[in-house]
Amino acid sequence: MSLSEETKKIQWFIKAHPQITSLPNGQVNLNKKDVSALYVRLIDCIVDHNHLYYVENKPIISDKEYDELFDYLKRIEEHFPQIISSNSPTQWLVGQISGWFAQAKHKVKLASLENTYNAQDIREWDERIHKIVEGHKVPELVGAGSGHKVENQIKITYRVEPKFDGLSVELIYEKWKFVQAITRGDGLVGDDITSNVKTIKSIPHDLEFPVDVRVRGEIMMPKSVRKELNKEREEDGEIPFANTRNAAAGSIKLLDSREAARRKLVCFVYDILLVQSTKYKVQSTKYKVQSTLESLWLPVFPWVKIGKNIDEVVALCEDEKVKKMLEGEDIDFDGLVIKVESLDQRQSIWSTDHHPRWAVAYKFPAQVVATQVNSVDFQVGRTWIITPVANLEPVELSWVTIKRVSLHNWDFIKSKDIHAHDRVRLQRSGEVIPYIVSVIKDRRSKVESSKSKVQGVVKIHPPKVCPSCGERVVHEDIHYYCRNPFCPAQVKEKIVHFVSKNCMDIEGIGDSTVDVFVDQWLLKNVADIYLLLESKYVMQIAKLPWFGDKKITEMVHQIWESKKKPLWRLLNGLGIPHVGKKTALDLVKAVTSSEYKVTSLDDLTKIMSNEEFLTGIYGIGEKSVEGIGRFFGDRENKKILQRLEHVGVNFDPSKYAEWMLDAEHAKWSFSITWTFPASRETITQEMQKNWYLFHDSPTKTTNLMLVGEDPGSKKAKAESLGLKMYEWRDVVLKEFPFLKNIVSESVKPKSQSLF
Ligand code: IVH
Repeated sequence: MSLSEETKKIQWFIKAHPQITSLPNGQVNLNKKDVSALYVRLIDCIVDHNHLYYVENKPIISDKEYDELFDYLKRIEEHFPQIISSNSPTQWLVGQISGWFAQAKHKVKLASLENTYNAQDIREWDERIHKIVEGHKVPELVGAGSGHKVENQIKITYRVEPKFDGLSVELIYEKWKFVQAITRGDGLVGDDITSNVKTIKSIPHDLEFPVDVRVRGEIMMPKSVRKELNKEREEDGEIPFANTRNAAAGSIKLLDSREAARRKLVCFVYDILLVQSTKYKVQSTKYKVQSTLESLWLPVFPWVKIGKNIDEVVALCEDEKVKKMLEGEDIDFDGLVIKVESLDQRQSIWSTDHHPRWAVAYKFPAQVVATQVNSVDFQVGRTWIITPVANLEPVELSWVTIKRVSLHNWDFIKSKDIHAHDRVRLQRSGEVIPYIVSVIKDRRSKVESSKSKVQGVVKIHPPKVCPSCGERVVHEDIHYYCRNPFCPAQVKEKIVHFVSKNCMDIEGIGDSTVDVFVDQWLLKNVADIYLLLESKYVMQIAKLPWFGDKKITEMVHQIWESKKKPLWRLLNGLGIPHVGKKTALDLVKAVTSSEYKVTSLDDLTKIMSNEEFLTGIYGIGEKSVEGIGRFFGDRENKKILQRLEHVGVNFDPSKYAEWMLDAEHAKWSFSITWTFPASRETITQEMQKNWYLFHDSPTKTTNLMLVGEDPGSKKAKAESLGLKMYEWRDVVLKEFPFLKNIVSESVKPKSQSLF
């Protein structure tokens, strides 16, 4: 029986027997034999889910479902202590060790938190800890500070922090120096990931002052980086990372540190595990966590709120504005963490073996909806891979109507056991592409019923021929490929990519124009775009419906302008395997700062075929090196490149490259936060063109901050760093008049092929 089936059975059993209570005569409402059998199965089930979650980074149940299973296990053990097994996950901290990295011990156990999901859970937790605090060391809690006694009731002040959805890590500093990073693992022993953590820019290698300190934080992949990476993974027919935790864990556990560096991970620190310092007044009991971390210049997230009582805490947890503000950040949060503020009170609240009681997590409701797979199409991408795509009964999920969702490859279909007409659960977190979490098998019907309009489920078979050109498909590993280089679907995808915003940015040629031009045989490859400048083609286009003079003039103008674009745009647009925007930028930067002189296609081909040069570029992985070599060596590609050069497309990395600033040449550095009337990316590009250096997140060296409507936490951080703030409404346009052009253009949402 598969794990998901077994889990479902156990869940069903739990639902049917919610109570495991002792009856007055010493009996229980379940017989002992049933309970022992269930106990063993439940342990196995939880252990398997732990493995999927911690080792494979592929959980198949929600945190809530996991907590329910774990909770039931604990309750069985409470009522039947005689059956407690040393194999039970309650007896050891969950999480297993991957075995790929050297192991390292945590000096202080890295515990996890208990979860709450609603106001009632939070209030119950508050009542529990009030009882503990009130029955404990009362006199010490009276008086100044956050804990004092009011009419027999101890006042507990709470601190509410965002709950980072990433990979938990311990960072160790000795004197000034960062010496080691260890994953949480099983709480006692984890993986030594020091070399990969050293590639994370926000983690200082030296502290502000010498102190031996062990801190705890969370490693995450910014949403924007994950979006780019997922695009590449999708093109390769790989399953995209569903959330930052998977993305961060997958990246940090790469054996190749250079590839890990490419993933641009970030880290925020939120707790001090151990500290030893006499010299600098950082004492182990009285330190203020946040201010100590800040004074050491460790990266802390600036948003934190104090709740004077549990009502204020509940209000914060349920405040849509808080959730929206966090959603506006470039990293993922899956809830809030509520902590008792007073360190004295924390000490008086003892911990269970598993969880500290002075803190609890509040999880935001998961964005999951149910819908039905109406049919399945096959889509041919520019990488030749044929991707199965499900057409769904349209459904609203996080403010977006979803009609289509990728099924990635046949392994995915098999592992989730997806059929046409299945009812499925769909999830979307942050800006991530929606994906199918599971099939609702209980609602599956094998037989058609015209009366009740029930459709029987149908197996999804791979196509035998390409749905676009009819060529026989080739089956290799988990993918099916159409190898016809003239396949119209592939040609369309390649051209759509070439003209897109992050490539040659030819707005006058949209998806539907590409469709028409390819179908009319006007475009067979990207070089043909420049044929459209010739009058005979202009006349041909003018005969097509929907192509008026104004539209044609604008298109011609933009094609013409695209010849004068920085080289990274061309490199990104050519569809070189494993070369996205970031790699294209890295390539051009490396070429410009090398001793090689590149002004023509010939020079570029030489340098792009120089494996030693490519391998030496920081941030460029093995797959990209291979893809670039293959691309520039291919005869057909060579012909296209020659034609592009012939029509005057820029191949010189030093031309039109104002964006490629570095700190020495830039006038000022800036950071940007919250919503603007144009996309942040467009504004950033425009600022860069005008010699302003961009900082992803404000730091000590950032000079100014552009603040849009309804600013988020970056504003608070910028304020605390004393940066000059430019509020959009009053100042920005006055100070930076060149931004006027871009805000007057309406910002079209980027076309999305899947929904
Ligand atoms: S405090 C001893 N604060 O959430 C308690 N944890 O089970 C230490 N997490 O894996 C946890 N954001 O790594 C704390 N602001 C935050 C957090 C946070 C995320 C993680 C933590 C743990 C999980 C809770």
